[in-house]
Amino acid sequence: MMGPTHQVGPVARCSVRLLSMKRRLIAAGALVALLGGCAAAPTAANARSTVPSRIAFGSCADQSSPQPILYKVIERNPDLFVYLGDNIYGDTEDMAELQAKYDELGARKEFQALREACPQLAVWDDHDYGANDAGRHYPMKEESKAVFLDFWREPAGSSRFDHAGIYHEERFTDGERTLQVLLLDTRTFRDDLVLADEDPRFKNDYRPNLNESATLLGDAQWRWLEDRLRAPADLRVIATSIQFGHEYNGWESWTNMPHERDRMIETIQRTKANGVVFISGDVHWGEISRQDVPNGYPLYDVTASGLNRDWDVIEPSSRRIGEAVAEHNFGLIEIDWTLEDPLVTLRAIDVAGIERNRVELRLGALTRSVGL
Ligand SMILES: [Fe+2]
Repeated sequence: MMGPTHQVGPVARCSVRLLSMKRRLIAAGALVALLGGCAAAPTAANARSTVPSRIAFGSCADQSSPQPILYKVIERNPDLFVYLGDNIYGDTEDMAELQAKYDELGARKEFQALREACPQLAVWDDHDYGANDAGRHYPMKEESKAVFLDFWREPAGSSRFDHAGIYHEERFTDGERTLQVLLLDTRTFRDDLVLADEDPRFKNDYRPNLNESATLLGDAQWRWLEDRLRAPADLRVIATSIQFGHEYNGWESWTNMPHERDRMIETIQRTKANGVVFISGDVHWGEISRQDVPNGYPLYDVTASGLNRDWDVIEPSSRRIGEAVAEHNFGLIEIDWTLEDPLVTLRAIDVAGIERNRVELRLGALTRSVGL
């Protein structure tokens, strides 16, 4: 396996990467009725009536290789598993080939065991979207989306069928507490990245794109996200396939478009959205990042990658808390909803089932008043 220092660009890197309380229940519809007329009211179609206490997540899973880590996920008894992209290595414009690769994952006993153990949600990244580092120019985006939604068993009637891309909200509420999971699409609408081009000021594949008209999420997804951030929730988990909270390192991430990352922070602040925690994948190592925000609460990003893929060089980041995890890993967010101010524990767990990193915080620490 060739190391990153020998690579010459994104295509070469691609080839290496190919070789990520139950509480009293009330009808969700009643809550919607109570809030009827609010511009950002919850939507009934995707509201569920129990609130997960353990949310596991991971990314970067080669369908052609065993994934024993999934049994370690099951041992943690998650209420939900979020696939963060590169869930298969599709890398094709041939939809029969893409489907066959999903089928290969679906036939794996360890995947079937996880599917039996808890509900799954998913976003895609480049390889399951269809091409390494691809954005809006990938020609088979609609066909690939159809395969994606079918494999991940998107319920009939889901709003995901009604708009371009796979962005989506899932709400879990018992009438007292609400968990919101916001699934972002970082591929369908993304404009072109700018190559580093061996400029010594930059490293690896990409430099920041300083053209502020370039978009990562696209207008429709930004409008949707702003609306959803105005909806009431106690904890909001934002799933982004590419990393959000780390320091620039030249690989794909929100650092490719700093104005879009700034827009995310500004949108969270303007909507007064409390309780945001990011989860991400893609890079083939695990880490927890903390970004301090002026006049706001700190933004955490728990990166879990990969489920059975790894990488030779872990990039430095001043925003990293604790150690990075080079071994195959997954993430776990545990919430103790029984407390007046719920305890939120962010964990990185390795392929041996060993906890390698942990951050504990109170949900009250994720409010805008902190830092003001
Ligand atoms: Fe990726």
